[in-house]
Amino acid sequence: MGGPGLRERHGLDPSRMPAHVALIMDGNGRWANRQGLPRNTGHEAGEAALFDTVEGALELGLTDLTVYAFSTENWRRPPSEVRFLLQFNESLLLRRAGELDERQVRVRFIGGRGRPVPKRLVRLIEDTEARTARHRRLTLRIAFNYGARAELADAAQRAADDVAAGRLVRVDEAALAARLADPEMPDVDLLVRTSGEQRISNYLLWQAAYAELVFVETLWPDFDRDELARAVATYQARDRRFGAAMDTPAAPGGSETGPADRSGK
Ligand code: FPP
Repeated sequence: MGGPGLRERHGLDPSRMPAHVALIMDGNGRWANRQGLPRNTGHEAGEAALFDTVEGALELGLTDLTVYAFSTENWRRPPSEVRFLLQFNESLLLRRAGELDERQVRVRFIGGRGRPVPKRLVRLIEDTEARTARHRRLTLRIAFNYGARAELADAAQRAADDVAAGRLVRVDEAALAARLADPEMPDVDLLVRTSGEQRISNYLLWQAAYAELVFVETLWPDFDRDELARAVATYQARDRRFGAAMDTPAAPGGSETGPADRSGK
């Protein structure tokens, strides 16, 4: 207890915090292999990183945190790793759903729940969602068996069905957004990918349309609340315009004004 909080330590401006941060937790396998350990050890080590990051999100006052736990492409990994990841997700929910509930974290899953996702895991997902549904302090969304193109195709299909049934007249942005995996999910403000890879990998393509992208070299198991706060500091140093533009001519004779100067004038 005591001591400066996470915001103070990183000099963050409380009035410009992102509401929704999305994470691509990448680099578990490399983290493990670098130490001569099997890849699955890296996934195990990723659990502590995730829960410390959730604590950081609570401390920073984020409203939404979305993490990529298993993509639709991850089924192509070796069967032993797929089996491990399925079991690991199950064990993680069994062991830690109570803690998330106590911390007033609402847990939601996005992604397909049909085959080949094991029924036992689907039941645990549903139990965890129901158990934490009343919380509003932080919504932790776990993307599992998730792919953004599939999410968009599903939304388009639902819209087409509704048009055919006479329930919808026109498919516009609002109509599609209302048919995404979780229509309550706000736009992503900040998308962070770890491990030095600079790709979006079919993640939240609709919701991250205007997200600030931050790529860090840290491998996921080494990520923590301070890394999250550093990413937020990078976000705050950026100049978000959402497609708008502002005239900022350089002062005669020289020095350019930085983004921080623009908003203050
Ligand atoms: C990417 O690292 C990570 C994954 C595919 C799994 C992410 C899962 C966790 C961090 C476990 C904890 C979280 C939940 C919600 C269960 P990689 O295997 O692609 O690493 P590499 O790029 O080094 O091969």
